[in-house]
Amino acid sequence: MNKKVLAINSSKRKRNTYGLLIDIKDQLKKINIEVEIINLHDYNIEICTGCESCILKDKCFLDDDMDMLMNKLQQYDGIILSTPIYLNNISGKLKIFIDRTCRWVHRPAITGIPIMNVVTTSFSGIYNTLKYMDNVAIQWGAFPTDNISRKVTTIEDKVQPKEYKNFVKHIMMDKKLYKPSIQQLIYFSVSKVLAQKVIKRDSKYWEEKDWLSKKYFYDAKINIFKKIIANKFYRMIYKKVKL
Ligand SMILES: Cc1cc2nc3c(=O)[nH]c(=O)nc-3n(C[C@H](O)[C@H](O)[C@H](O)COP(=O)(O)O)c2cc1C
Repeated sequence: MNKKVLAINSSKRKRNTYGLLIDIKDQLKKINIEVEIINLHDYNIEICTGCESCILKDKCFLDDDMDMLMNKLQQYDGIILSTPIYLNNISGKLKIFIDRTCRWVHRPAITGIPIMNVVTTSFSGIYNTLKYMDNVAIQWGAFPTDNISRKVTTIEDKVQPKEYKNFVKHIMMDKKLYKPSIQQLIYFSVSKVLAQKVIKRDSKYWEEKDWLSKKYFYDAKINIFKKIIANKFYRMIYKKVKL
């Protein structure tokens, strides 16, 4: 069966970022990966009101397309997040969307799904923007892989297969062979402590998922050094956070 990827664009116009997504879609089709492109501007996504009900009660009182979108993201083998760079960071539309996924930081729902980031800019902001986007993928419990970027000077350059090699590899690969980074393991530890000691909703969810006794969301390749560091970090924050 063909693998399915969801590509999320967050520029209101169909220009530079969209063009890159089309190129990637055409290329992935040739290796039997279907890419569906959606644009956040086609959906009703309200700004987070800051009530924290999603975190504490697992309910958002805003009536819009976010539940549908968050369910949709869970149906794919891979996700491409894309944005034009605005003021050296992601577009406002993408940020509004990400803010509304806050419950996933506590109760991850797309664990292990490979994410590839695609950004376009005139000149600046690539490093900063991609670093932030990678961090979001990690906080979601997803798996950051490749990052593709273009500037005004390189926008006509076709995407090269080596630029999405890691993304494709992870889509095809058994999760047991994934190698989570130390940052991913640390975020896992922080969320686990929150689930054990701070937020009741999280502890029920983490118990159901059977994550509380785990080193990571799923069996993966974690070398001994990473295990030791992550375990030390976990024990340290477990001690510091009071019930
Ligand atoms: C509001 C706004 C802010 C921007 N900020 C930056 C910036 O900080 N650095 C930069 O090099 N280009 C900046 N740009 C240029 C866009 O990142 C660039 O044109 C991008 O490729 C547009 O993508 P799109 O065609 O998919 O909308 C900005 C453009 C806009 C409209």
